[in-house]
Amino acid sequence: MSKVVLAYSGGLDTSCAVAWIKENYGLDVVCFSAFIGEVKNALELRKRAIACGAKKVHIVDLKSEFARDFILPALHAHAKYEDGYLLATSLGRPLIAKHLVAVAQREKAEYVAHGCTAKGNDQVRIEVGVRTLDPNLKIIAPLKEWSFKSREEEIEYAKSRGLPIKVTKKSPYSIDKNIWGVAIEAGHLEDPWAEPSAESYMMTVPPERAPKRPAYVQIDFSKGVPVRLNGRALPLVSLIEKLNAVGGRYGVGRLDMIENRLVGIKSREIYEAPAAAILMYAHESLEALVLDREYLHYKKLLSQKYAELVYYGLWFTPLKEALDAFMQKHQWRVTGNVRLKLDRGNIIMAGRKSPHSLYEEKLATYSKGDTFDHTAANGFIKLWGLPYEKK
Ligand code: ARG
Repeated sequence: MSKVVLAYSGGLDTSCAVAWIKENYGLDVVCFSAFIGEVKNALELRKRAIACGAKKVHIVDLKSEFARDFILPALHAHAKYEDGYLLATSLGRPLIAKHLVAVAQREKAEYVAHGCTAKGNDQVRIEVGVRTLDPNLKIIAPLKEWSFKSREEEIEYAKSRGLPIKVTKKSPYSIDKNIWGVAIEAGHLEDPWAEPSAESYMMTVPPERAPKRPAYVQIDFSKGVPVRLNGRALPLVSLIEKLNAVGGRYGVGRLDMIENRLVGIKSREIYEAPAAAILMYAHESLEALVLDREYLHYKKLLSQKYAELVYYGLWFTPLKEALDAFMQKHQWRVTGNVRLKLDRGNIIMAGRKSPHSLYEEKLATYSKGDTFDHTAANGFIKLWGLPYEKK
């Protein structure tokens, strides 16, 4: 029988999808689950997939690859969609697409399937990713094809097919989480005037309930890579997880956005990304110390483009690859230490230093020991303003 590899989360949608694909396409279903930071129990997940009718289940922990090949390039690129969103979900999708394709090829499957809806960005990221990597694979998107009109109808279907669905009181929100952050939408958040309620958030405490006394964190970078937290050497995944924990306790990294989706609608989403916000600020601050004005200003334009490519699902593309090369070029200079203060929702600079610093105190100082050539200023201004002198 022909096979499909389904990106399986273990939730209601993809559990129904296992049975639905079997019924409607007559395919053997192989489930594939990637762990990138949403805590899940592998044993439970496997059991549930099999109980839904899957022939086989592949579960892989991809956190290290996610950190090294997706998060780190985005950190180096200072990627923020529409100046805010640090792209946690957007970065996870091409990774999932890549492994979905790899499993499909290993399984000699003709099809892949996913649980994204017709209204979101994620369908684009997964499907464009899959098609870029293997255009021969056919894609099934049950949520775009089946006729269930509501969650209740889906639950009815699951019951009628004997699927092991725990019908818990569903959170009103749609949530997507990984180690780079969480995205929360729907429920009362659909009204842009409505303030998020306390229980909308899951990684951070409200800033006003964070400890009164601030916490200091020191991040050491080696060639652009955060390698130590408060003096302790850590693999990137652990460093991110630790920063999520401390940042969460101090209420940092929250964001409430109206964003422009790829599919043409504006949506309201709240984000929590404590580690991402801290690391982004630290990396930007260190770069400001070690790179020159023209490079930094030009990079800003490319950062915006980079974020758009990630958001638009264009990860495996020539422009994205070329921009990576640009972003990498001077990372060797981004070595040094950044000290930050976390204070009730704020990330505050406390100090930075680098062996590659371009900051020269003797040029900058307003006190004794100034070596700046004051006599050069007049000539400079004369020529700088020359084109604009009124005739
Ligand atoms: N709007 C974000 C993006 O397109 C996050 C979407 C994640 N989904 C969710 N259920 N909140 O990348």
